[in-house]
Formats: sequence, structure tokens, C-alpha cells
Amino acid sequence: MYFIANWKMYGNTNSLNTLNKVIKFSKSKEINKGRIIYCPPFTLISSFFRKFQNCLIDIGAQNCHESDDYGPHTGFINSRMLKNIGANYVIIGHSENREKGETNKLINQKIKSALKANLKVIFCIGETLKEKKNGKTKSVLLRQIKKGLNKISKKKNCFIAYEPVWSIGTGKVPKLKDLEETIKFIKNKFGKKKPKILYGGSVNPKNINDLKTIKDLDGFLIGGASQNSKKFIDIIKKTYN
Ligand code: 13P
Repeated sequence: MYFIANWKMYGNTNSLNTLNKVIKFSKSKEINKGRIIYCPPFTLISSFFRKFQNCLIDIGAQNCHESDDYGPHTGFINSRMLKNIGANYVIIGHSENREKGETNKLINQKIKSALKANLKVIFCIGETLKEKKNGKTKSVLLRQIKKGLNKISKKKNCFIAYEPVWSIGTGKVPKLKDLEETIKFIKNKFGKKKPKILYGGSVNPKNINDLKTIKDLDGFLIGGASQNSKKFIDIIKKTYN
């Protein structure tokens, strides 16, 4: 199982000390089959990379520019630059960026550039509360998948992170029956080679006991709770207990 920490726009150089507990845990037997990936803000990627030198914790970024080449794009960072400083993953299509105007087309370009730079992609999809209430969840997800992965043949390096927008940072999670059905729906949209599917949205040490029972899930994308090492470790421990 994958446990991916999305730190969003939080953290500074003082945060590095909080990682000691997780590094120790990652070397213990208790990590079981868990794989940890941290996605800190751009400013901390290099420091995290150095910090994780002697352990198996991996690193990702939270976004990238759509061009894999260098260019006159003030304030942006591309996938090649991320790979160069030690990132192996990148989150693309997070709803917090979709809300700010990131389109399916732009997301598709970003995914292509990230794959070209040999990054693995954590591709986020999810419906809003309004879409859910109108019974549009499946059609929204299907559209996001089709457009986001348009003309991408090698999907092996794309993880799909299902994050219902209404569940992010709200403490609300989907009913287990609904979540299981949605995960199955997403998986069935792919042929023989199924991508890894993650769930994200208010995952915490309390609800993990329920969430871990969802069939066919390959891991979790964790926001708020991942900034607290104890909570993050608890989530992983409880997944295997
Ligand atoms: P929370 O876990 O804080 O709800 O955030 C989820 C998320 O957006 C991860 O990408």
C-alpha cells in the first residue's frame, strides 16, 4: 500500500525535524508492506531528499509546468527540474488547482510532460458536492479520466487518486458502499493493466479502520493528517493491524 503525504502550502525548514519519527518507523518491521512518499512544497524538496538519503521514503512534487523543456515561464517549475532535484513523483490535477482554472486539457499536457521526464504521476480526480447531489459522479470521473489521459498509452506510471472535492479537509468521507462502487467503476475503465488507485479526502487515524477495508485500493493520499508524524504513522500502522 502507498501512503502519500501531500503537505500542500505548509512547512518550512523547521519541519525537517518532525520527519525523524517517520524515518525511524520506515526502517522498522511495522512499516510492513507500506510505501511512503512525501510531497512537500517545492521549497523543501531538496532538503527532504537529503533527509531521506538512507531510507526508502520517496519524494514527489505537488504540481509542474506543462512544458518538459526550459523556457521563459516566470515563477514555474517543470518536470525535468523536479526529477533533477530528486523527485520521482508529481501530483497533477488536484482539485485545489482545478478550482483555480486548471483544465482537463492542461492536466493532460502536464501528465505527458511528467511521464516524459520519468516521473510517476499521481493523477487526481473527483466530483464536487453539487455534482454528487445531481448524480453526476460517474460521468464527471469518466470525463476527467478520458481527457486527462488522452493519447497516453503507457498508463503504468500513472496512479489515479480519487479525491471527492467535498471530502477534502472537511472530515467527511464517502459511505463505504459508495466508495467501493466508485473505486470499482474507476478500475473497470481500464483494460488488463489496471493503474494503482488511491483514495484521498480526510483520511485520519480514526476512519482508516473503515477505509482500509475497501477492496482494490492501493493506498491513500493524505493531506492534513500527514503533517503530524504521529497521526501519519498511526494511519500506516492501523492499515496493517
Ligand atoms: P485532507 O487529507 O486534508 O482532507 O486532504 C486531502 C488531499 O487533498 C490530499 O491531496
